[in-house]
Amino acid sequence: MRTIKCGDYHELSVKAAEILAGCVGEKADCILGLATGSTPVGLYQELIGLYQAGKLDFSRVRTVNLDEYVGLAPEHPQSYRYFMEGKLFRHINIAPENTHLPNGLSDDPEEEGRRYDRMIEALGGIDLQILGIGHNGHIGFNEPAEVFTPGTHAVELSESTIKANSRFFAAADEVPRRAITMGIGSIMRAKKILILVEGAAKAEILKAAFAGPVDPRVPASILQLHRDMTLIADKAALSCM
Ligand code: F6R
Repeated sequence: MRTIKCGDYHELSVKAAEILAGCVGEKADCILGLATGSTPVGLYQELIGLYQAGKLDFSRVRTVNLDEYVGLAPEHPQSYRYFMEGKLFRHINIAPENTHLPNGLSDDPEEEGRRYDRMIEALGGIDLQILGIGHNGHIGFNEPAEVFTPGTHAVELSESTIKANSRFFAAADEVPRRAITMGIGSIMRAKKILILVEGAAKAEILKAAFAGPVDPRVPASILQLHRDMTLIADKAALSCM
């Protein structure tokens, strides 16, 4: 595991954008695994800036997102599809058909998970996966559990995740209770992984994930076993390491 220590969130976002731009530079039709949440927003702004400056071309890039809420339509303002359109896709020259998220409206979320993994494989696999980490150590929506779940699957969200995500909804009871998420195996198959962590509130879980044992009760700890994993974090997040 490689660690890049950044002074602040801006530097973290710039560094992450450099790595991602390097990936697109090496392989114009690369497959990028993307995340939602607050942490990658600065990265997406940097990518938009690079595109507008003529330094980055997304015309052949394909993207696959980690997760989507069950029951939310793409046009729902809290859906992850809506988030990605607003924060990134609409502002760059990516072809809509090259952007993929699990279908939250599927009648059969488990089958949708299997379809999603087959689709990723058919694309050729993820070249670079961007991740954030939840306060309970989740990656994607892989919540703390007794075992790691390999494939993309439907999950019941934990109370702590529902509470954390309620900041985006009018009330906690509007947060969907289920989501479809890439599994741990789907994530670990990515050729490279870049995890972005910001702020003192993530310091304890960061230490548990990367300085403790590999344990499904801290899902991100599995990343210790990945061959090409980079942690980009600010000083505050690294303060317990
Ligand atoms: C987002 C995702 C989540 C977030 C995590 C951290 O697609 O899968 O695992 O990365 O909840 O979220 P933020 O960045 O908002 O702290």
